Amino acid sequence: MAPRFDVKNLYFLCLFIGASLAASYNETLCCRYIHESDYDAFYDFKKRFSKHDPQIKMFHSFTGSGCSMRGVFKLEFGRGDRLLIDMIFEDPQGWVYNLGDSSTNNGYGGDAGTQSNDAEMQLYGTLSGYYSDVKGSQLAFGMANNNNVRATLLAGDHCVTWYNECDPTSLNYFCSKGWFALNDDHDSEGPVNNDLYLGVNRAIGAPELVGKGVCKIGFKWIRGSNTY
Ligand SMILES: *[C@@H]1O[C@H](CO)[C@@H](O)[C@H](O)[C@H]1NC(C)=O
Repeated sequence: MAPRFDVKNLYFLCLFIGASLAASYNETLCCRYIHESDYDAFYDFKKRFSKHDPQIKMFHSFTGSGCSMRGVFKLEFGRGDRLLIDMIFEDPQGWVYNLGDSSTNNGYGGDAGTQSNDAEMQLYGTLSGYYSDVKGSQLAFGMANNNNVRATLLAGDHCVTWYNECDPTSLNYFCSKGWFALNDDHDSEGPVNNDLYLGVNRAIGAPELVGKGVCKIGFKWIRGSNTY
């Protein structure tokens, strides 16, 4: 209990200093504040620290070092689960992350014919999402990149929610029948599954599409029962 309390104290101190001594307050430093005990799985690429969860697997193993480490996670959802994905950045560039419903997603919609449920989103210049084959792999959403410090996402069946830079006014979501299919949905190209993939500092199925800047990731399962 004690170490955890200390850590929370630091966070409150951060906020308190912000409120009382505007000159000392550093929004960037406070927003990068994250602690592994709040998450089911946690990766700090600089410290080479990892805490594992049985439903979060390494699909393409991680190589490189620090905030340029890159690899792909396989995220195995239980029925009704949502997954909080909290990423801390330093100077993100290129293919920062790619979250998709197919193991061969490679950015800008579509995959290598692995799944018809192959919706994906990417932080590459802009934050954009592409429908699955169900809706012709078309652009689902796109917006300017304002992710330089932290991206907090909640992925669930047919929906994704995100929140940037610890700023509540950035909260946004996208839901569609052509989005992540995590409820034993029929798939016309591959096996039925409730998995997503997360490419970190790279695209999921395209190792040549690389980026940098993701330094830490926390994953937390939010158990639920709603499916769409
Ligand atoms: C806040 O901290 C960051 C990271 O150490 C630093 O780059 C930035 O210049 C600081 N901002 C201010 C306003 O002091």
